[in-house]
Amino acid sequence: MVSSTVSDASPTPTRILVVGGGGRENALGWALARCPGVEQVLVAPGNGGTADLPGCGQLAIAEGDHVALAAACRDRSIDLVVVGPEAPLAAGLADRLRAEGLAVFGPGADGALLEASKRWAKELMAAAGVPTAAYWSATDRQQALAALEHHGRPLVVKADGLAAGKGVTVAESLEQCREAIEEVFAGRFPVTGPGGEAAAPSLVLEERLEGPEVSVFALTDGCSMVLLPPAQDHKRIGEGDTGPNTGGMGAYAPAPLLDAAGLEQVRGLVLEPVLAALRHRGIDYRGVIFAGLMLTQAGPRVIEFNCRFGDPECETLMPLLGPELAQVLLACARGRLEEAPPLSIEPHCSACVIAAAEGYPGEVRRGDAIHAGLADDPRLQIFHAGSRRAEDGRVVTAGGRVLAVVAQADDFDTAFERAYTALGQVAFKGMTFRRDIGHQVRTRLPVPLP
Ligand code: AMP
Ligand code: GLY
Repeated sequence: MVSSTVSDASPTPTRILVVGGGGRENALGWALARCPGVEQVLVAPGNGGTADLPGCGQLAIAEGDHVALAAACRDRSIDLVVVGPEAPLAAGLADRLRAEGLAVFGPGADGALLEASKRWAKELMAAAGVPTAAYWSATDRQQALAALEHHGRPLVVKADGLAAGKGVTVAESLEQCREAIEEVFAGRFPVTGPGGEAAAPSLVLEERLEGPEVSVFALTDGCSMVLLPPAQDHKRIGEGDTGPNTGGMGAYAPAPLLDAAGLEQVRGLVLEPVLAALRHRGIDYRGVIFAGLMLTQAGPRVIEFNCRFGDPECETLMPLLGPELAQVLLACARGRLEEAPPLSIEPHCSACVIAAAEGYPGEVRRGDAIHAGLADDPRLQIFHAGSRRAEDGRVVTAGGRVLAVVAQADDFDTAFERAYTALGQVAFKGMTFRRDIGHQVRTRLPVPLP
């Protein structure tokens, strides 16, 4: 049952299901369970830390098992479903649950194309006049190579479809570009189409842009939106932003790169036109729009859209969001965001550092015992990601990014010192992390480790 204690116009959900099993979903579960009026948050499938989060429980249902998820919602009187990852959204989980009358925060398969097809997203941006890199799409290698030769300069090569962040090559030379094109058409990036099925390779070639990157998140009911503080991720594995790309090794927010006026500019230039273009195509988008932006000399340009929260941006942002969060997400899911109370945002600096398993972002060690306490400081959180509870009850590593350690303070130096001090208390065999997360905003570097 939806309680109406706060406001009849904008009810609070009492029983929430969060779908997913990463650090993002642990952070969502933790934040939603803190909201007044929320009685229980279930996370499916969750991970090794979910069951220890106050107010949270775990369901052993895979994110791709739409039938079992729908049955669990009925059996457990769920009144809000929050879908964390892109794959179930692209595969139509939100459509399936909405067809059963459930309130779902997360777009249907049509809206998820924003992330699931780079080509579709580029066409939408072109139609909406959203600033982005110039692009050329190709469905066979000849076409792609011809476009490259015609252009005569290295272009960014992007495999179309959901490639788990691995389908992008920012090439330095024409030769590297050709190799990346050949790789895409040789099927080197196993790409899935919008329905989760294996897709024929196709790609987008993009003009290469320069500038710092920032992540902007809009919570939307398809018409109105609430913007979260901008966050900056650290995609490379190595200190000094070197080495291969990862899912993200740490983040901080609010990123001063984009001040209040800059954020408003992004709303007007990017988010409102995209939402209008989605509506124009008859797409009722209810969930998060994540705009990955590059702040170029010529102004902000969209690098990519995602149809879900970023990870680790979500872990970084959730501790800053106020107790209205559950109400706001339900209002988005019901298409009535204007009736929700304003989402309050703590004026703190939030710092997040990822502890990854040895070998990440390649093949990783798994099954090592994790020693990590629960944070007893209200300004410190340890969110599990790639972990699981083994049969003997120990919590062990089970993925690349194992834990996110997050801390808040009045300034970034203190927030990062707090996060790194807490990270010093975490241990598992082969644990790796970057010591320079937040180098853009810290004055004291590197932080001495305990
Ligand atoms: P994506 O998966 O589209 O976010 O791309 C992964 C990363 O590649 C981005 O975070 C950027 O650092 C880089 N990238 C993507 N597109 C471009 C571009 N047009 N110019 C320069 N760098 C890019
Ligand atoms: N951290 C970037 C992403 O989630 O795509």
